[in-house]
Amino acid sequence: LIAFFQPKVLAGRRVLITAGPTTERIDPVRVISNRSSGKTGYAIARAAREAGAAVTLVSGPTALNTPHGVQRINVESARQMHDAVMAHAAAADIFIAVAAVADWHVANASDHKLKKIEGQAVSGPPALKFAPNPDILADVAQMPNRPWCVGFAAETENLHEYAAAKRRRKGIPLLVGNLAQESMDADTTTFILFDDAGVHPLPRLPKTDAARKLIQAIAHRSPQHPP
Ligand code: CTP
Ligand code: CA
Repeated sequence: LIAFFQPKVLAGRRVLITAGPTTERIDPVRVISNRSSGKTGYAIARAAREAGAAVTLVSGPTALNTPHGVQRINVESARQMHDAVMAHAAAADIFIAVAAVADWHVANASDHKLKKIEGQAVSGPPALKFAPNPDILADVAQMPNRPWCVGFAAETENLHEYAAAKRRRKGIPLLVGNLAQESMDADTTTFILFDDAGVHPLPRLPKTDAARKLIQAIAHRSPQHPP
């Protein structure tokens, strides 16, 4: 009922959101990943939908249900997430990058399951080689007809300094900072908004409420639909 009475501040707007972790294959049965439950991204998708937006959620593997009325596209790797986002970014008015994207993938991934013993010999631990993944947010932010972009930064230290620098480096109007150790696996979070005007801290809130506050902040800052 509370959801129904949220102000429709994003009515008619198309919002594209990434959420959750990405996973990068070592072999068909093993991955390396980032720690992310997806709760924050899914709460933002739900809040954007409540606010009247048409929402597309590109999600890495999570244990969460799709929020009502949200179009969800499932991906595993950062490269798959990049492809899915690029296919939808031109049609979006607003892009919110919440996913914990793996910065690297395994360059020498095996197409069969690695065995501890191959033939007679003990294989020993695999020597993994890594190659960089595309930066999804930076690529969307550089599109000529880019949507209005929001980034996230979960840091463990120097939050203010790192977040402000990250916003400038990615060339985006709004970045949301939080402390990884307070937010990860938790049902509450403390957002700090960084924009051209400076730093705007929000109180510690349940992720549902923090998401609604963020959607209000995005609606106020982003350009309105042409009439
Ligand atoms: N991001 C992305 N694609 C990537 C890496 C990050 O879209 N390959 C997005 C995240 O979803 C987030 C923002 O960029 O919105 C910042 O991610 P973060 O990992 O904090 O920044 P990085 O630029 O990867 O820097 P670092 O990990 O070194 O702090
Ligand atoms: Ca990163």
